[in-house]
Amino acid sequence: MQPLKTVVLTIINCGVDDDVVQKAAALLRAGEVVAFPTETVYGLGANALDEGAITKIFEAKGRPANNPLIVHVLDICAARKLAASWPDIATLLADAFWPGPLTLVLPRTSSVPDVVTGGNQTVGLRVPAHPVARAILTAAGLPIAAPSANRSNAISPTRAAHVLADLDGLIPLIIDGGATNNVESTVVDVSTPSPRILRPGPITAAMLQAVLGAVRLSDVQAPALEAGECPSAPGQLPVHYAPVTPTVILPAHDADALTIRLRDKGRLVARLTSSNVRADDQWTVVLQPSAKAWQAGVYDALHALDDSGADVIVIDAPPNSPEWAAVNDRLSRACARAVEL
Ligand code: TXA
Ligand code: MG
Repeated sequence: MQPLKTVVLTIINCGVDDDVVQKAAALLRAGEVVAFPTETVYGLGANALDEGAITKIFEAKGRPANNPLIVHVLDICAARKLAASWPDIATLLADAFWPGPLTLVLPRTSSVPDVVTGGNQTVGLRVPAHPVARAILTAAGLPIAAPSANRSNAISPTRAAHVLADLDGLIPLIIDGGATNNVESTVVDVSTPSPRILRPGPITAAMLQAVLGAVRLSDVQAPALEAGECPSAPGQLPVHYAPVTPTVILPAHDADALTIRLRDKGRLVARLTSSNVRADDQWTVVLQPSAKAWQAGVYDALHALDDSGADVIVIDAPPNSPEWAAVNDRLSRACARAVEL
């Protein structure tokens, strides 16, 4: 692929008539890819109905062709146009959580190309809440397929600078709308009678179940996969969101012991923790001890620790309770590579 000049433009007023939004929309209509912020992470968008444009997403990310993309639309009405059927549970969940960080997997219509769905007969649909994402969707007048704007298996980007570091020379435009602060959307399969979480996220199982009432969320886990294997039930690549620096996760007291042992050997250890004891240490990022705080800060922290020059990243394992599911899912993937210490 010819190297591109990647331009970063900062949003001024974020309305549909903003020059930057109009530039993004024009590129998207012309079949190009554009990175922009959502309320979860930065996405790399392209016209969901244009195969050639979608191919550019896969090329820029180095993403396996059978890992399907989420299609972003403005509202339920636009989502329904891309779904071959729309069960009542989809209405319940969409009314409760859209716009917001929830992706619903539904049977697709034939207007959604195979390249978007990885050949699946289903499509992931999401109505984002971020004003910049919404302005771009409105100005482009298209459904926009958008995976996270990182190289495949790297840490998801929460800042325009993270996108640039990964995709410079590979995409024409990054829209800088400031830092985003969440992990990726919860993905729920509603294409079968028993809805199932395919990827935990900001909308927890308890929040979903509260809305579903008598319909029980399936407790069958999406199958875990071996490193390097491609997902047949997508969404579950084990090595994903991973720092380049070797990363381990341990209960806090074991993490303390390992940190001391490695530092004694002269190794530079970066630490992610909720313990304030180490707050003034330049090698430590402290996140408040709540699932919400870790969800908001975990990717920014992983980027900072990965860029710190440390030899090893040591993470204090958070609690194992259900509201921590999304954070624990991302951390276990960040630590899925074997590490020699
Ligand atoms: O918050 C988010 O969801 C972000 C922002 C940019 O919207 N997007 C995102 O996209 O995380 P991506 O491509 O990094 O992750 C999409 C996830 C993958 O795990 C994929 O396998 C799953 O959604 N997915 C998409 N379509 C699917 C389908 N038809 N069936 C099953 N899983 C699907
Ligand atoms: Mg991703």
